[in-house]
Amino acid sequence: MKIVVIGKNGQLAWELAKFKSDEIDIICLGRTDVEITDKESLKETLIQCAPHAVINASAYTAVDLAETEQDAAYLINATAVGNLAEVCADLSVHLVHVSTDFVFGGKNGVPYLPNEPYEPLGVYGESKAQGEKLMTQIMSDQSCIIRTSWVYSSHGNNFVKTMLRLMAEKPELGVISDQIGSPTYAKGLAKACFTAAVNKVTGIHHWSDAGVASWYDFAVAIQEIGLSKKILDKAIPIKPISTKDYPTPAKRPNYSVLDKTSLVDAFPELSLVHWRAQLNEMIEEVKTNTL
Ligand SMILES: NC(=O)c1ccc[n+]([C@@H]2O[C@H](COP(=O)([O-])OP(=O)(O)OC[C@H]3O[C@@H](n4cnc5c(N)ncnc54)[C@H](OP(=O)(O)O)[C@@H]3O)[C@@H](O)[C@H]2O)c1
Repeated sequence: MKIVVIGKNGQLAWELAKFKSDEIDIICLGRTDVEITDKESLKETLIQCAPHAVINASAYTAVDLAETEQDAAYLINATAVGNLAEVCADLSVHLVHVSTDFVFGGKNGVPYLPNEPYEPLGVYGESKAQGEKLMTQIMSDQSCIIRTSWVYSSHGNNFVKTMLRLMAEKPELGVISDQIGSPTYAKGLAKACFTAAVNKVTGIHHWSDAGVASWYDFAVAIQEIGLSKKILDKAIPIKPISTKDYPTPAKRPNYSVLDKTSLVDAFPELSLVHWRAQLNEMIEEVKTNTL
């Protein structure tokens, strides 16, 4: 079996590349290998690769910048996803597309189910929602969407790595405590996407680590684990602050916990692991990489 992963240099694609085995070839394509905004070049590349499935791990992920770079966000998160769906439908190739908790508005007090209405609060969420709608219209019978939240890995830029850096540099930190979600280790998300591709899963599904946290809870755990693994050498005070004390160009959902039941029920091997245990594993990997 051959799987093409688009978005080679991103956090998720990096973890997906590790699923390459004697039985399953994983071909990761980046910007220099394929222009996802150009349908013809996309089609040519996929014909050459002849995959059984494609996983789209590419996206415009700069949430705040998207408010001013709207055209770029829509081009990559919506138009290119439509192109990819049309090409995969033409070639009868199964497509797994990754989306976001930011398609929701955050007013729920219980985890979001996959079929709940779209209510994006900013350009990033709106562009991802449009990409989902295009994909569903074009090839819902041969594709699936996996929404996720708060993704981090030892590769690339993310909240965990930013916190570890700031905790080493600053005398104290204020971190938002009134936005609640579920962190997601890219390694577990990669396993969910890989499983969906191999089993040709259809429909909309959710994946994150188990448990919930505020950004403040997440930061406190990062410091505790960083200290215990000695990649931080001193504890600094971390203060809970509210969203209104940390204004950002893009509005974010206050509550974006995702209900993961559909994938977990269908694939018990995708066992959910609590975010703190996953964080521990990721920080261990960061430590190993820096030794
Ligand atoms: N990160 C999160 O917290 C989060 C949360 C919820 C959902 N998600 C979703 O999860 C998926 C994976 O996210 P991630 O964190 O792995 O993203 P990431 O690290 O930002 O990687 C995205 C990748 O997309 C590539 N890309 C962007 N535009 C492209 C283009 N025109 N052609 C080819 N490649 C292009 C980027 O390439 P360059 O490196 O060359 O720029 C980058 O490698 C995305 O669909 C994202 O929306 C992420």
